[in-house]
Amino acid sequence: LAGKLGRELGLPVYAVGGFVRDLLLNKPNQDIDLVVEGNGIALAKALAQELGGRVREHQEFLTSVVIFKDAKGAESRIDVATARLEYYEYPAALPTVELSSIKMDLFRRDFSINALAVRLDSTPFGQLVDFFGGQRDIKERVIRVLHTLSFVEDPTRCLRAVRFEQRYDFRISTSAERLVKNALDLKLMDKLAGPRLFGEFKHICDEDNPLACLVRMDQLGILSAIAPQLTLIPTRKALLQTLQDMLSWYRLLYFEKIPQAWLVYFLGLSHGLPYADTSDLFLRLGLPENKRGEILNQREQMRAVRGRLEAWQKRQNGQTSKVSALCEVLAPLSLESLLYLMAETGDEDLQKKLSRYITQWQHEKADISGDDLKELGLPPGPLYSHILRSALKAKLDGEALGRDAQLALAV
Ligand code: CTP
Repeated sequence: LAGKLGRELGLPVYAVGGFVRDLLLNKPNQDIDLVVEGNGIALAKALAQELGGRVREHQEFLTSVVIFKDAKGAESRIDVATARLEYYEYPAALPTVELSSIKMDLFRRDFSINALAVRLDSTPFGQLVDFFGGQRDIKERVIRVLHTLSFVEDPTRCLRAVRFEQRYDFRISTSAERLVKNALDLKLMDKLAGPRLFGEFKHICDEDNPLACLVRMDQLGILSAIAPQLTLIPTRKALLQTLQDMLSWYRLLYFEKIPQAWLVYFLGLSHGLPYADTSDLFLRLGLPENKRGEILNQREQMRAVRGRLEAWQKRQNGQTSKVSALCEVLAPLSLESLLYLMAETGDEDLQKKLSRYITQWQHEKADISGDDLKELGLPPGPLYSHILRSALKAKLDGEALGRDAQLALAV
């Protein structure tokens, strides 16, 4: 459709970036980025009209987003950028070359594998545009930069290089690795603003194997360049591995509630650090104020819960402790903290109990409801929650008498 509209409007239009890379790698990618040589906003408007969507424009950068509902009714977006030669100022250290605007647009990108485009308005449809050997690099499974200033221009690319390398099982080219080291020697990580780092770390945590990325970043010296507290000492690395396993286990259960992976890994990255160092680390990693408060608060909650868990376990050994009491101890914890505690404990029995709490006990409901109590003619009030809590407790502790008996008891 974009190609057809491009032809009608006389605008060369290309699909670019990750979408094309993943197309060649035969991997799914729903993130469509278009680049138009000419008036990108005009094409976006035409596209939105055809798709029954709307356009959000950023006139200043001549970029826009088309927002529309896909065939399943889900909100989708297509980014449309404008490639215009005069908008690009290149560092003086590079040779000046006359480039077409799409070539210039692609040349500004991070790696050759991300600098591919497919022309959509051409006949025959879908010509691959590959100025920088991206297709060859995909075949050779290598992450190569397009010029020596790539990491200077944007140091987050050091993290991106690792992320793509680990995601696709590619390798960073020798020269790109040397340029990463140069960037670190030049202390370019210090210049990176926290929010950009946070964005990159979040992307890493959403990968299938974040630990592989972190280990590689550690090996290249990226982690310690970002913050000295970040080094992967063996205990922290082992914990991160277990956290990764716990998250995979949880995801396989297909529960509705989805943990925020970055929160779990950030708890792991700060394992063993005192409060002040943790707070500094999260500040450096650009966590927004409210998220920093949330994660620090979760750490404190866990500290309190650990003590109460120990007491519960001691009572358990004396045969008197109950599931309902365990549920009360764990109630203040978020899903992320529960997964963290499960990964952290070396106690298999406690791990099993935590997993039952996560999968079953915390979702348990009493067999009787407020409506039942209303039907019995009990006046609504605080008594209701007391009765329902007692009924749930009895159920959790295996002392439930069945629904009718519980109702009789309530009366
Ligand atoms: N890009 C870049 N330098 C960056 C970030 C992005 O050159 N620091 C370019 C790359 O060409 C990339 C495109 O912008 O392909 C889109 O960026 P983004 O959506 O972040 O990455 P994707 O390549 O789509 O990766 P992912 O699959 O992780 O979304």
